[in-house]
Amino acid sequence: MNSLYGRDLITTQEWKVDELERVLDLAFEFKEHRFDHPLRNCLDRRTFFMFFYNPSVRTRQSFECAATELGGHAQFLEPKSMRLKSAKTAGETVQDAANVMSRYACGIGIRILETAIEEYGQGDQLLREYAHYASVPVISMAHDRFHPCQGLADVMGMRMHAGRNLRGKKLLQVWAKGGLVRSWCSVQESILINTQMGMNVTLAYPEGYDLDPEVIQWCEDNAAISGGSFEIVHDLEEAYDGADFVYSRNWMSPHFYDYARRHGVDTAKKREIEMAMKHDEWITTKEWMAKTNDAFFIHCGPVDRGSEVTDEVVDGPRSIVYDIAENRLHVQKAIMALTMARV
Ligand code: CP
Repeated sequence: MNSLYGRDLITTQEWKVDELERVLDLAFEFKEHRFDHPLRNCLDRRTFFMFFYNPSVRTRQSFECAATELGGHAQFLEPKSMRLKSAKTAGETVQDAANVMSRYACGIGIRILETAIEEYGQGDQLLREYAHYASVPVISMAHDRFHPCQGLADVMGMRMHAGRNLRGKKLLQVWAKGGLVRSWCSVQESILINTQMGMNVTLAYPEGYDLDPEVIQWCEDNAAISGGSFEIVHDLEEAYDGADFVYSRNWMSPHFYDYARRHGVDTAKKREIEMAMKHDEWITTKEWMAKTNDAFFIHCGPVDRGSEVTDEVVDGPRSIVYDIAENRLHVQKAIMALTMARV
């Protein structure tokens, strides 16, 4: 079996299914043996650098805990305090920064999405530039296109409640109204990894919220290879019918960045929220959940309660949102152990 030592993780789409399975197997081991696993010191005295261009609760804290629990340390870095070169400012190039950081750290995590970029794809490009120059693994901690750690935590959560084999189970990935103008990363990662895993994935959204066409093509290709299925629907009755898992999430329209360039970010955000809130029915309620196959409710967090989902669903007996949040810790420990330590 090929070693994963030194590998970057920018999206699960770039890893093979058996490599993802190794992460998930180790994550389950770390869950069962949180403080007494044989790999508990595999990052002894090593440091993982984390660049956050955007805020975070789960990602920052779970990576910090993950590094500690593997015997190392995670260092929080705000790019604005590092005089890095950007499209608007002079400073140190990515080539130099990545080379220097590789002399100190065992890995580099980067989060860059939402209004930290000016056009879709810019965050992905930055991660790939770091990955090109760094000699240590670069891990996406959520960027404009992908969120691999979240995708793996979602799969782990579904397996905890429905068993290891999710083939043939219906995952409804449904757009929701909301006030937070979200990037596409968590949703795109979910539909990619779950089509790779052989699930029957239904992506539902109102007209006007198309995702990245390349990602959609990959989902179709994944389903053809894995024996799962992938469909896009715009009707909520059809979407919820027979679902085994429901994952509702707001995401921005494809016009957000173009509008923000022309009218400013604040105006563009206001317009997005006004547009989203007109889709009154696009919220996961107990009435919609009643049309499913007693589905589990999943969400990456932060949950926009009252817009994406009602309290009674997210606090209800079929909600597994906190398990999934916990799983971020276990999957990240597994990713770090496999890519940053010679295990
Ligand atoms: N799901 C997720 O990445 O959460 P944070 O934005 O809180 O890190």
